[in-house]
Order: sequence, then C-alpha cells, then structure tokens
Amino acid sequence: GSMEEVSLPLYFGWFLEYTFQDKLEVMAKDFLKTLGTLEVFKKHIRDFSGEGEEETNLEQYFQHKGPLHCTTKYCNYGKAKGAKEYAEKESVRQQYGSMTELAIGALFITPRTMGVRVLLTQDQLQLWPDDAEEKADAGPEAELPPGSRAHITLGCAEGIKPVQTGPDLLEILQLQKQGQEGEKVQDLENGPLTYYGNGIWVLSFTEPLLAPALFSSYYK
Ligand code: A2P
Repeated sequence: GSMEEVSLPLYFGWFLEYTFQDKLEVMAKDFLKTLGTLEVFKKHIRDFSGEGEEETNLEQYFQHKGPLHCTTKYCNYGKAKGAKEYAEKESVRQQYGSMTELAIGALFITPRTMGVRVLLTQDQLQLWPDDAEEKADAGPEAELPPGSRAHITLGCAEGIKPVQTGPDLLEILQLQKQGQEGEKVQDLENGPLTYYGNGIWVLSFTEPLLAPALFSSYYK
C-alpha cells in the first residue's frame, strides 16, 4: 500500500494538556468519593454492585489507560469507514498540531462508563465527522445535533470498552431531550447532581470547565 494508507492513526482527537489531565482526574476521583458517601447513592448501589454486595468502591470500579482525549474520528488505522476522507479534509490538515480549548459541560457515570461531555464550538465542529451521531439502527438518537457525542472517557467498568462512553452520553442527552428531569439530588461544588435511573448520574457544571487540548492523532 501507499505511505498514506499505512500512516492513518487509530484515531484523531483533542488531547488534554498534561497538567489539565491531572486536574480532571483529581476532580473525577473527588466526585466519585463524594458520590459514594451519599445516602441516595447507597440506596441505588444495586446499579453498580453484584448480588449480595453491600459496597462498591467507585474509584476502583472505573479503570482507564492511555492519554485523556476527545476522539473526533476513529480510523482504526484506515479500516474504519470514512477514515481516509477524514484524514484528507482541509480542516483536519490545517488544524493538525494546533491547540484549542475544550469546554467541559458535565461529568457523568453509568454502570458502564465514566466521562465528561464536551461542548464544541463552531470552529471545533469543523473537525467533527458527519456520521458521529448516527447509530446502526438509526433510532431517535440520529436527531441530536452534530457534536452531541463529543466526550472524554475517564474510565470504564471491567470488561467494557471506551467506545461505550459515546452511546452512554447520547442516551443521557436523549433522556434530557425527552424532558426527563431525573431526580435532582443536591448541589455539589461544581453544580447540581441528577439521578436519571439505571445507574445514570450526571453532575452538570454551572460554569463550563475550560481544558487546553492539542488536535493530534494516536497510534498504539
Ligand atoms: P472513546 O472516544 O469513547 O473514548 P480502543 O482503546 O478501544 O481501541 O479505543 C481507542 C479510542 O477510540 C477510545 O477513545 C475510544 O472511545 C475510541 N473508539 C474506539 N472504537 C470507536 C468507534 N467505533 N467509534 C468511535 N470511537 C471509537
């Protein structure tokens, strides 16, 4: 094959600047620690623990490897649909290697994944693939606006792959769009905490958290 083919990455994305990675990880750990102590969480512990288990250590429940990032396009070294076209896009070539600031709007956990929602600007949306919000079965999720899926995976439960964080976020946005208010639990340091059932907990930031990030790509 040509040079172009072999040089396609596993994925393109925005990679959080190192000091901010640490900051976000500390914040997520603090959140889990706080959540684990709340009576209302203990009441719903079943979402996260097996039969007969009384306690769950959330900090051990979610594991993560590799750099914290917001995937724009998963290329799978060229095997993913549209990978080559994406890599050749004018905006991708132009912005490759440049810094931006990601606005983080919420932190969420489900029994499968932990992540933060990223609110993309118009400029950042130019790097967003058209098919990111599409689902194989073209359900109502397809109606969410472009960029809805943008997130940073902070951790996964045992046996779960990070690709699950996107669908989990889309499910949350779908619930919100359908007008489900959830159970407003209480205000934490960064904003209100809401429980949507089925182990879905969302901390909405009153002020978006701004994260410096580099647009680049990753090869394993
Ligand atoms: P995410 O962007 O939700 O974190 P893996 O380690 O499983 O190969 O995944 C590497 C990265 O690519 C992860 O960030 C992951 O999910 C993302 N990813 C994996 N598969 C897909 C896919 N089919 N579509 C979009 N992103 C994917």
